[in-house]
Amino acid sequence: MQLYVTEDYRELSKKAAQVVAEQIQKKPGAIIGFATGGTPMGLYEELIGKYNQGEVDFSGITTFNLDEYVGLTREHPQSYYHFMWENLFSKVNVKKERIHFPPGIFTDAQAVCRQYEAQMDEAGGIDLQILGIGTNGHIGFNEPADTFEISTHLVDLAEETIEANARFFGDKTEVPRKAITMGVGSIMKAKSILLLASGKNKAEAVSHIYSGFVDPRVPASVLQLHPHVTLVIDKEAAQLIEEKGASTWLHSQ
Ligand code: F6R
Repeated sequence: MQLYVTEDYRELSKKAAQVVAEQIQKKPGAIIGFATGGTPMGLYEELIGKYNQGEVDFSGITTFNLDEYVGLTREHPQSYYHFMWENLFSKVNVKKERIHFPPGIFTDAQAVCRQYEAQMDEAGGIDLQILGIGTNGHIGFNEPADTFEISTHLVDLAEETIEANARFFGDKTEVPRKAITMGVGSIMKAKSILLLASGKNKAEAVSHIYSGFVDPRVPASVLQLHPHVTLVIDKEAAQLIEEKGASTWLHSQ
């Protein structure tokens, strides 16, 4: 695991943008897995800046987002499709037909989940998966549980997640209770993973990525088994790793 600890959120966003830009420069037809939420917003701003400077060309990439709320149409202001469109996709030259999301509206959950997995496989698998992390250690919407869900699936959001995401909806009762998310196996199939975390409320969850235990009650702990993970986290989110000792401290900047 490569670890970059940054001074602040701005530096985190710049470093993350460098990682994503390098992937696209190296492979213009890269398959990129995108995440939503507050954490990657700075990364997306930086990527738009790089696109405007002519440093990155998004025209060849294919995208797969981690998750989508159940019950929201693509046009809904809080759908993750809308989030990505507003915060990145409409501002760069990504091809609309190469953007993939789990659907928010469907009749057969199993069928749409199978289809999403098949689309990822047919595209050749994700080259770089961007991840945030929940305060409860979730990745995508893989919530703490007794077992890992491997493939894309329908999930009941944890109370903690609903509370955390209420800030985007104004009112907690507006937050959908279910989502479709890539599974832990879908995420682990990515050739490389970039995980971002900012702030001291993420420190506990981040420390589990260095625990030496893989535990479905802290889904992000599974990342210890992946061969190519880059963590870009600010020093507040890194607090508890430092306390746990430097043996896993591979790189800091
Ligand atoms: C978003 C996602 C979630 C978020 C996580 C952190 O697509 O899958 O796992 O990455 O909830 O969210 P923020 O960045 O808002 O703290």
